[in-house]
Amino acid sequence: MSGPSFEAWLAAQRPAIDEALARMLERATPATAPLGEALAHAVLLGGKRMRPALAVAAQDALGDDDADPTAALMAGAAVELIHAYSLVHDDLPAMDDDALRRGQPTVHVAFGEATAILAGDGLLTLAFEHLAAAPELSALPTARRLAMVETLARAAGVAGMVGGQALDMAATGTRLEEGALSQLHQGKTGALIRAALRLGALTATAPSDAQLAALERYGHALGLLFQVTDDLLDATGDTATLGKIAGADAALGKATYVSLLGVRGAEARADALLDEGLTALTVLPQRERLEAALHWVRQRRF
Ligand code: IPE
Ligand code: IPE
Ligand code: MG
Ligand code: MG
Ligand code: MG
Repeated sequence: MSGPSFEAWLAAQRPAIDEALARMLERATPATAPLGEALAHAVLLGGKRMRPALAVAAQDALGDDDADPTAALMAGAAVELIHAYSLVHDDLPAMDDDALRRGQPTVHVAFGEATAILAGDGLLTLAFEHLAAAPELSALPTARRLAMVETLARAAGVAGMVGGQALDMAATGTRLEEGALSQLHQGKTGALIRAALRLGALTATAPSDAQLAALERYGHALGLLFQVTDDLLDATGDTATLGKIAGADAALGKATYVSLLGVRGAEARADALLDEGLTALTVLPQRERLEAALHWVRQRRF
């Protein structure tokens, strides 16, 4: 399976993911305007939806015929809410100060900073309410759901995305060595991607420790590859295709794989990560879709 076939599969998953996200927002206590509109703007206006799709693909990779793909999709949708919140806060003037996201004005540009901060806070908490209480996950044992809540909390928090974002802010204007940059990227971006894979696997009947460890190794490669390609696209892509302003990393003096290794060095690193990810998958029974995801991330243009 190749990158293009993952693209087609992802496109086929997207309507169900979008519908699930819309349902999750509807279930939230109706927010007064403009908070409700800001939540919808942050979540429903585009996005590749890679993280929920990866949760489905991870469950599928375990070859468990009794597993419910809807449960994996719903678990992945919780990660997507955290991801959407992370983008809203990442774009704030105090962070990356970006005006464009998914081809739209960023949430703080459209609704003001206070509403953008609150929308992010609302999405963060809604993700956990969903994991704990969504009817689509009610067939899972309580202990399993608790493990899922812990997985997402760790990935989203100080040991994961938030910690990585703090490293990113501290590194801006400085030059990191590759070990430190990889740690930063594994936090800000890799952690939620690994969480999506693990949450998907945790919706299968009996994921083994060996399978979870293989997915973790795969996620390490895929998560870092995803941010290396994000760095490359910022340097080499155009604003219209990306839906976010190209060249922003260099303008801000961000520590990226391109600032450290140059475009060709970052491309070579991306190729090596693709191979690492493929190697990690060899123990999984149905690995074709996750293999295709690696190729797709390596080749992506937005
Ligand atoms: C952008 O993530 C932020 C990073 C973690 C690099 P995506 O490229 O997955 O953003 P959307 O959801 O498709 O807009
Ligand atoms: C974003 O990294 C990571 C998170 C949002 C947690 P970037 O700052 O590189 O993402 P973009 O390029 O703005 O999407
Ligand atoms: Mg950032
Ligand atoms: Mg940013
Ligand atoms: Mg970026």
